[in-house]
Amino acid sequence: MLEEVKFKVLRYDPDKDGKKRFQEFRVPIRKGMTVLQGLLHIKEKIDPTLSIRFSCRMATCGSCGMMINGLPRLACYTLIEELKTRTVVVEPLRNFPIVKDLVTDFEEFFNKHRSVKPYLIRIDTYVQEKSNTMYLQSDEELVRYVQFAYCIKCGLCYAACPVVATDKTFLGPQALAQAYRYYADSRDEAGVDRLKPLGDGSSLLRCHFAASCSQVCPKGVDPALAIQLLRKEVLLRS
Ligand code: SF4
Ligand code: FES
Repeated sequence: MLEEVKFKVLRYDPDKDGKKRFQEFRVPIRKGMTVLQGLLHIKEKIDPTLSIRFSCRMATCGSCGMMINGLPRLACYTLIEELKTRTVVVEPLRNFPIVKDLVTDFEEFFNKHRSVKPYLIRIDTYVQEKSNTMYLQSDEELVRYVQFAYCIKCGLCYAACPVVATDKTFLGPQALAQAYRYYADSRDEAGVDRLKPLGDGSSLLRCHFAASCSQVCPKGVDPALAIQLLRKEVLLRS
């Protein structure tokens, strides 16, 4: 068991000099300590100016994503001892503009998420207006989309995507997975209208299938699979 590790944290303050630099901190660790707890130790005991974003501390809210030793991970879900290193390198998520230190700007990411209409589209409104009714679904219908519904919008897949890195107009794995999630939901009535904006080559066909998105997802969502399933639907129906 290590007793102390070095945290190498990327610092950036646009209101100061706007230059990126690494700052090192010695952090005492105990068994079961997470990278988020290490960063909070720095903030509370060493440097209160360090900016980080977090909320739930239990891999649910999706707000503590950052690059940890080169990989996009949730800081609250990453045990320091599992990294098996004496140096923990922490940087803001790639493919996102930096606001300050480890805090990144998710506006473009959420705009892309919103662009796929991530909600059920229905012709009827009766069920939605009555609190004592519901859309029924079989187990088979649920299985078609449920893994994609576990997305917590943490942006790790977006940070890992090599296409997003070179082309900011690419919708990215998260939004495309959500496009499939609603397309595959038997309760949704938008049908092929959901495929039309995706089938013009602007997004779907630019995926190289590196599958790095699926490797880093902390919730077991497989966006690379969703993109392949969407491609199949577009080819069959256009
Ligand atoms: S698909 Fe996974 S990695 Fe991507 S935003 Fe959703 S939960 Fe995060
Ligand atoms: S603090 Fe909510 S996911 Fe890490």
